[in-house]
Amino acid sequence: MNPSDRQTHPLVRLRDYRAPAWRMERVDLSFDLDAEQTLVEARLELRQDPERPDAELRLDGSALDLLEIRLDGRDIGTDRYRIEADGLVVCGVRGSAILETRSRIRPIANTAMQGLYLSGALETGFLLSQCEAEGFRHITWSIDRPDVLAPYTVTLRADRERYPVLLAGGGREAAGELDDGRHWVRYVDPQPKPSYLFALVAGRLHSIEDAYTTAEGRRVRLAIWAEAAVLDRCRHAMDCLKAAFLWDEQTYGRSYRLDAFHIVATHDFTMGAMENTGLNIFNSKYLLADPLHATDDDFRHVLAVVGHEYFHNWTGNRVTCRDWFQLSLKEGLTVYREQEFESDLASRTLRRIEDVRSLWRTQFAEDAGPLAHPVRPDQYREINNFYTTTVYDKGAEIVRMLATLLGREGFRRGMDLYFERHDGSAVTVEDFLAALGDANALDLGCWLGWYRQAGTPVLEAHSHYDAERRCLELTLRQHTAATSGQSEKQPLPIPVALAFFDQRGNRLPLQCDDAERLRGDVLLLEEAEATFRFTNLDSSPVTSLLRGYSAPVRLVTSFDARGLAILASHETDGFNRWQAADAMARQAFAQLLAGERGGQPFLEAWICSLRASLAESAIEPATLAEMLTVADLAALAEPLAEIDPDAVFKARLTLETSLARALEPELLESYAALASASAEGTEPAAQARRRLRNRCLQLLCVVDRRHHVLAAAHYTRASCLSDRLGALTCIVHSAASAAPALLEEFAAAYRDDPTVMDKWFAVQATMPSAAALERVCELTGHPAFRWDNPNKVHALLLGLAHRNPIVFHRLDGEGYRFTAAAIRKLDAINPQVAARLATAFGGWQRMEPRRRAVMREEMRRLRTAENLSADVADILGRSLG
Ligand code: PHE
Ligand code: ZN
Repeated sequence: MNPSDRQTHPLVRLRDYRAPAWRMERVDLSFDLDAEQTLVEARLELRQDPERPDAELRLDGSALDLLEIRLDGRDIGTDRYRIEADGLVVCGVRGSAILETRSRIRPIANTAMQGLYLSGALETGFLLSQCEAEGFRHITWSIDRPDVLAPYTVTLRADRERYPVLLAGGGREAAGELDDGRHWVRYVDPQPKPSYLFALVAGRLHSIEDAYTTAEGRRVRLAIWAEAAVLDRCRHAMDCLKAAFLWDEQTYGRSYRLDAFHIVATHDFTMGAMENTGLNIFNSKYLLADPLHATDDDFRHVLAVVGHEYFHNWTGNRVTCRDWFQLSLKEGLTVYREQEFESDLASRTLRRIEDVRSLWRTQFAEDAGPLAHPVRPDQYREINNFYTTTVYDKGAEIVRMLATLLGREGFRRGMDLYFERHDGSAVTVEDFLAALGDANALDLGCWLGWYRQAGTPVLEAHSHYDAERRCLELTLRQHTAATSGQSEKQPLPIPVALAFFDQRGNRLPLQCDDAERLRGDVLLLEEAEATFRFTNLDSSPVTSLLRGYSAPVRLVTSFDARGLAILASHETDGFNRWQAADAMARQAFAQLLAGERGGQPFLEAWICSLRASLAESAIEPATLAEMLTVADLAALAEPLAEIDPDAVFKARLTLETSLARALEPELLESYAALASASAEGTEPAAQARRRLRNRCLQLLCVVDRRHHVLAAAHYTRASCLSDRLGALTCIVHSAASAAPALLEEFAAAYRDDPTVMDKWFAVQATMPSAAALERVCELTGHPAFRWDNPNKVHALLLGLAHRNPIVFHRLDGEGYRFTAAAIRKLDAINPQVAARLATAFGGWQRMEPRRRAVMREEMRRLRTAENLSADVADILGRSLG
């Protein structure tokens, strides 16, 4: 770690943005690569903004060992420059300059994984770079900000035997041999790009290759690089990549315009994947997939992430962000594109349900706590802490609303204009809204509110039916609670997709008095409150609101069990069918939590609907599987004003057990029927059947220990990891006696497979029992666990802190103490990962008083720790307020 990072960073504010005084017009880099020490030569052609002749020439750089510096071809003395904690200032330069530096970096010591680092062991691993958001300054001196774009020439030199493969973005222009067994390769990327998109990779890698001919007639060479042993697990990713090329051409008319596209897989990566131009780098867990080593979910994640990184080529790389406040401009938009890609190629309903589930449990929680921030934050200290669910997922929801508002063609027109206007430049959210608006002759100014305002809007809906007039009055009201630093909130435009059904589940007409406000089946609420009159209704209809989850709001309405039951069986929008079942379960949960005695109308209606759905042949198995999946503890706790995790756990258990017990015969029957239907193959239909079958098994294991035998057989007969892991999870999470032996067997079988072992760690970290803490503690000493590997930390430690509330929130405080100690330890290795772990404390204010006090105490103690990173200090500072 660089010691200069061990301090609080100054606050950066959006309103202080200024265009750069100096720009880089060309960047030439050459590297003498070696894991222990790499020499970096940079030649920058710099030009000053003529309007700012007094601005000094300041370059970003940190933890760089400067060996040589030349200005316009001449060596300069120490009187001409000074080195600061995070930069280099060259004095007395005007107009333009050529700055050459030579410096030394130490990839092997770079455990923070920003800049150039080593993946794997010193003798066998490979070197790779990670530059978003501000990693380039750990490689060389430069103007490291996204609004400075330049063409790059990159020469890589290294020992041929140790580093046979040398990759960088752009086209491979030349290569050759050097003395003493070394070789070199030169890449040229002529398309100006910001430094955060620079990448290089060097080492012993192997590739599978393919090609794609674009609609514009360019033949693009495709290569996926990985260790030799896992090469055949890259085929699925290659298919996904070609599908992504095609989809962006068909959906957005966007083609790839370079001659090569490389992807490299690594087990050592802090995030999911990175969209570096021409050289994407992927966390192996989102790239490698075959049925024996990846689950069905993994297969879909590979599809989504390969798509996501590819789509960044247009939304992120060719059109990039002016500054990091605009992060959602590329991320929200690209997540939306990725969601649509997966929806078109796999299951739309499943993807939507999963996205909304995670929005509710994670993003809503973030928006309701001290770490709440707008989709476009207006200030930050550590930008790495803003790669959040709010920027990504709420950002994607905003784009989805705009797409709903404009319709398929209107949205496409807007995107075309956006690309036409801004290709090759660094822009803002305002530019994006202006392009969408101008292409459709609309003023979308009010949508900026969604980017500026933190907090989840509450949407209240009330309806009144007038039998005499045969009409329904629907009143919609919105408000957003204050968040830290934002006490005043404005009403936001909220598209509400809706439908009416009669008591038998038939669709009824949707005729609104205010025809202007209803487009298709979407009502646009723009003010704090409005009442809409719907006519021509012979009876009081069942109203289905927010179909497809048309807006990221918290819906508050008076639910009735009968109406929800009708929607849970008849809604033709798969998402809202699921939402109706989920709403029944949540109502039942609330009654159980409140200890209400007597009739349980929601519980009964819920069970009844699910029984009927299980018997239905037409229902999509993936949707049914999701309807049978009770919201997890975090999702159920999220809407509560004050959380007692033990009470939430108890109520949820009662809910799930009641369901499983009541439907035991049906679940057994479905389980058996799905087995004989054979669930082989990786196509979506087979995946969906497996998903449903594993879900039935899970519920059966909850209801009766007898069914553990089924799970054991399921495990033994499993022909793919989805089934094997599904069975293992059932057995371990229901504390079956076979659990310890099976865990050992699994570990023995997959010992050498890091991505599968991650799952083995995660299953144990999420065990719903207080004793899981002792187990996790023990597992930190397991030979396959590594503190310096983010995937292992995610599986085990974030698994516990973020996905196992009954252990993290143990009343004796041990869950908090364990996590705090882990944060301290990790902070010395990878502050970005440590900061992620620290966000687990972010929900402290809503916990019941005893836990609240302990959490606060733990955070305060942690905050006084010596040498705390700026990353963790920022999270704790904001969490404590
Ligand atoms: N930009 C990456 C994405 O596609 C995420 C990322 C951020 C990766 C920062 C590495 C570092 O979402
Ligand atoms: Zn992204």
